[in-house]
Order: sequence, then C-alpha cells, then structure tokens
Amino acid sequence: MSRAARAAGALGAALLAAGCVTGGGGGAPPARSAGERLYRSHCAACHRLRDPGEQTQARWAWAVERFGPRAHLAPEERAQVLAWLQARASDAGR
Ligand code: HEC
Repeated sequence: MSRAARAAGALGAALLAAGCVTGGGGGAPPARSAGERLYRSHCAACHRLRDPGEQTQARWAWAVERFGPRAHLAPEERAQVLAWLQARASDAGR
C-alpha cells in the first residue's frame, strides 16, 4: 500500500470515529446527511469551514441567507444546509 493510500485510510477512520461521536446514541448514524455534504462541498470555496458549534442558530440563518447564493446553493439546498447547521449551533436545543 502506498503511503498516500495509508494516510487516506487513517483519515477516513478518523472521520468515521468523529461521526460516531457526534451521531450520539441509538442506532447507527446515517451516512452523511445531504445538508452536511452540501455544506462541506459548497461553503469552503472562500474560507475554512466553520464548526457548526461556533455560531448561533440566528447567525447561521444570516450566513446561509447571505452566502447561499454565492455558494451556488439552490433554495431547497440552502434549507437543508441551514437545518443541519442549526441542529448543531451553539444555542441548539435550548
Ligand atoms: C463567495 C465566497 C464565499 C462563499 C461561497 C461563502 N462564504 Fe462565508 N464568508 C465569506 C467572506 C468574504 C466572509 C467574511 C470574511 C471571513 O470571515 O472570512 C465570510 C464569513 C462567513 C461567516 C462569518 C464568520 C464569523 O466569524 O462570524 C460565516 C458564518 C460564513 N461565512 C458562513 C458561510 C456558509 C454557511 C457558506 C455556505 C452557504 C459560506 N459562508 C460560503 C465568503 C464566502
């Protein structure tokens, strides 16, 4: 196995482990949600991805409204991204 392949494997395992932690208890967490995939693939074009817990729900609403069009997200994709972010926002579940 090449060094690059090994590194990719280790990264994949780390991501999987992180997914299990954030997935919480009860059943296997589903593979990445559409909202998360869209966020990761569209919102890193201009700056690093912010951790969802860095912002409040109101702040995410502002950000997705403001940057959604520039990130080339369709309105229904924006809604998916926003729902995913808000569920993990700093003030989620309060
Ligand atoms: C066209 C370029 C561009 C795209 C695409 C983009 N952003 Fe931004 N974003 C910026 C700029 C410029 C700033 C202000 C400077 C900075 O904080 O890096 C910013 C700032 C932010 C902030 C504020 C950060 C803070 O510290 O308060 C958030 C939150 C954010 N963006 C979220 C998003 C989300 C969510 C998406 C995807 C829907 C997105 N951005 C896509 C350009 C972009």
